[in-house]
Amino acid sequence: MQIAPSLLSCDFAVMGSEIERMDRAGADYMHLDVMDGDFVPNLTFGAPVIKAVRGYTSVPFDVHLMISNPLKYIDDFADAGADIITFHIESKSPVKETIEKIKSHNIKAGVVIKPNTMAEAVFPYLEMLDWVLVMTVEPGFGGQKFMAQHLDKVRKIKAQAKKINKEITLEIDGGVGESNIKEAFDAGVDVCVAGTSVFKAPDSAQAIANLKALCR
Ligand code: DX5
Ligand code: ZN
Repeated sequence: MQIAPSLLSCDFAVMGSEIERMDRAGADYMHLDVMDGDFVPNLTFGAPVIKAVRGYTSVPFDVHLMISNPLKYIDDFADAGADIITFHIESKSPVKETIEKIKSHNIKAGVVIKPNTMAEAVFPYLEMLDWVLVMTVEPGFGGQKFMAQHLDKVRKIKAQAKKINKEITLEIDGGVGESNIKEAFDAGVDVCVAGTSVFKAPDSAQAIANLKALCR
């Protein structure tokens, strides 16, 4: 299992050193939650902030766009140093065109589905995608309770990808911790986002090691 600490739970006053701390703690990806106060009822940061902190690690940046018009900003996030960009299938942007735009920068393209969206919604795009993110909480805030029923979507998407012979990375986001990561692993999840469970732990390196150790 790979772990992507969500910077949403970091100390924003020292975001660069928080990234260095997660790098040392063994993060596989840095998960950056971009919110526009419209697609979700919360605001975070945009491409300039991501660009400013990009140099603090060589760990890949996994940028999760919770914004209404992702297509409009793909160039900015790619230029800021994103390695993976995921955007919501429920946003206003045309899905196919947005995936193509991400891929035109030679970075990984993914879609995200909210709790109320069915697994089948991503099927028409699987052939074009590198990555699918299944939300296990309503997007917008860290520290919410994990909703295990959405792991079913991971199983369905994995099965469909296998059927069409496509390698897809499956990620989940929201409420992941020691009490549920094994269940996620068994469902076929490749990458778990972890905000609270890693950042609020007394020792983040130990927290990441413990999460990984549970996946056997
Ligand atoms: C929620 C964000 C998540 C969040 C996860 O909208 O997409 O990445 O920060 O935080 P935890 O792990 O605390 O649920
Ligand atoms: Zn996220």
